[in-house]
Amino acid sequence: MVTVDSRPIGVFDSGLGGLTVVRQLLRRLPCEDIVYFGDTGRVPYGTRSREVIDKYARQDCRFLRSEGVKLIIAACGTVSSAAPHVLEEQPLPAFGVVGPAAAAAVRQTKNGRIGVIGTPATIHSGAFCRHISQLNPAVQVFAKACPLFVPLVENGWIGREDEVTRLTALRYLEPLREQGVDTLILGCTHFPLLADVIADIMGEGVILVDSGREAADACVERLAADDAFAPPAGGSSGERCSPCGRGGKYRFYVSDQPEGFSRMAGMFLGQAIDGDLRTVDVETMTVTAGQ
Ligand code: DGL
Repeated sequence: MVTVDSRPIGVFDSGLGGLTVVRQLLRRLPCEDIVYFGDTGRVPYGTRSREVIDKYARQDCRFLRSEGVKLIIAACGTVSSAAPHVLEEQPLPAFGVVGPAAAAAVRQTKNGRIGVIGTPATIHSGAFCRHISQLNPAVQVFAKACPLFVPLVENGWIGREDEVTRLTALRYLEPLREQGVDTLILGCTHFPLLADVIADIMGEGVILVDSGREAADACVERLAADDAFAPPAGGSSGERCSPCGRGGKYRFYVSDQPEGFSRMAGMFLGQAIDGDLRTVDVETMTVTAGQ
């Protein structure tokens, strides 16, 4: 018997980057409701200690659980890499971007040389390297932390004509290009916004793996395996979610003032925010403002 599950999908990130995952979910699963939490009051996570990332990730998951979600996506390369145990201990399906992106890169590389870029915490965790060598020990991985990419994206400096961004990217990416990688994992959910600049530097032959897109695909697979898609338009059970045009309902929460978030969110989502936007303190679990 085919079942349906109308509870929302929960997605969180340290800030705006996870919206690149929401953007992919909107395309793939237009019937699903989504609750997004962006920890804008505590971003960035990528330069923090493992203990702090653990604590934040636990609070983020607890908040999403309190919203009655059916599944949690850590749309944050840093949490996915540095605190996978927090996701494993959740009493509902929860996963991050590392496994899906590593699998996609291993599938796509031809020369067995994969590059990974992410925040310092992501790269120092070694999580991508471990996943890749479990999948194929013969693959060589070249990793590089790119801490300045996050503030560049948060400030909207993402165009290929932006000289500061281009020079920063050149400095980070040249060593990977020199290693001859043919596949590059964008291991931070902010980085897809810099894809044009990154592609210009890496060259045409290099495949860019968008970790957010792979996580969205993994979400579709998980819902299919669990028979847990939202009901289609009209709510008749027995049919799977399809591009039915119903459009899910969306709730966005941030931990700092929402104005900055709504201004930048369109850039990440590829469309204006459509849904409730509220502020929440995840330490005390109080929703303090609505918009
Ligand atoms: N979106 C976060 C990630 O994917 C990066 C921002 C941060 O450092 O918190 O790691």
